[in-house]
Amino acid sequence: MMDSSIGLRSNLTELLTSIAKERIYSSRKVVILTGAGISAESGIPTFRDKDGIWTKFSPEELANFDAFYKNTKIVSEWYKKRRDIIEKKHPNPGHFALKEMEQLFPSFHIITQNIDGLHQKAGSEKVIELHGNIMRNYCINCKKEYTTDEFDEIYNHTDTHIPMCDCDGLIRPDVVWFGEQLPQDALETAFQLAEEADLFLTIGTSAYVRPASDIPIVALQNGAYVIEVNPAKTGLTNFTHLNLLGKSGEILPKLLEEIKLNLNH
Ligand code: OAD
Repeated sequence: MMDSSIGLRSNLTELLTSIAKERIYSSRKVVILTGAGISAESGIPTFRDKDGIWTKFSPEELANFDAFYKNTKIVSEWYKKRRDIIEKKHPNPGHFALKEMEQLFPSFHIITQNIDGLHQKAGSEKVIELHGNIMRNYCINCKKEYTTDEFDEIYNHTDTHIPMCDCDGLIRPDVVWFGEQLPQDALETAFQLAEEADLFLTIGTSAYVRPASDIPIVALQNGAYVIEVNPAKTGLTNFTHLNLLGKSGEILPKLLEEIKLNLNH
């Protein structure tokens, strides 16, 4: 299945095979799947790399509903800290390259597992969030939504640091926790786009977490040309057509330049 696995020390033009060039430059429907790796160069840690979040913290204690219900203060504090950090981060050249690519193809969508909102901050318009967004919060009882500022207002004015809605329900972050369903609309749209894609890029994800990791497989099964951008090998590497081994903040701007020069529609 795989054309080649390449490093990016040399020029990207020389490294793309003729099949890769033909498929990339003739594509009309492009779908991107991103994971934590695309935001690594913005200073947001990934989950499963050496210094990843899940190597320091336990998802059992922090990223599931039971933990939130039993230890609301600890879980809320942890998410507030992460939100305060993420809020100050900026998109990197990888995010900006994808934003520019959006203008070049008739159909271009980003499906992201990230909850940091950096694609939108970079200006990308068609972004499907599979795992929610840490900047949003909602009441588990009446489902009222709270912005970060509204949440902080409540959080900072309670001695307990247990954020409560007017209806007495707990306020939680709008992120998908382990054991929870992904938002149905986002998931359906993601699989539909993967089925129809001509070109599919899987960027900065370990492809470890389902159902997101099934999306590139669906694209492959339906005839898309699939490229992985990642400095390390993943469970998908042996199935994709081409592997661009390196950081997305370095590879994607080079790929963008190639596409701008060669796009044939
Ligand atoms: P992981 O931490 O599992 O994987 C991050 C991937 O990014 C790895 O394959 C790295 O090699 C790669 N990477 C690191 N630096 C990179 C760079 N500069 N450029 C490109 N790639 C780089 O993160 P995800 O695959 O996103 O779920 O994890 C999936 C889900 O697991 C997350 O959405 C989160 C987590 O539990 C929820 O919170 C529901």
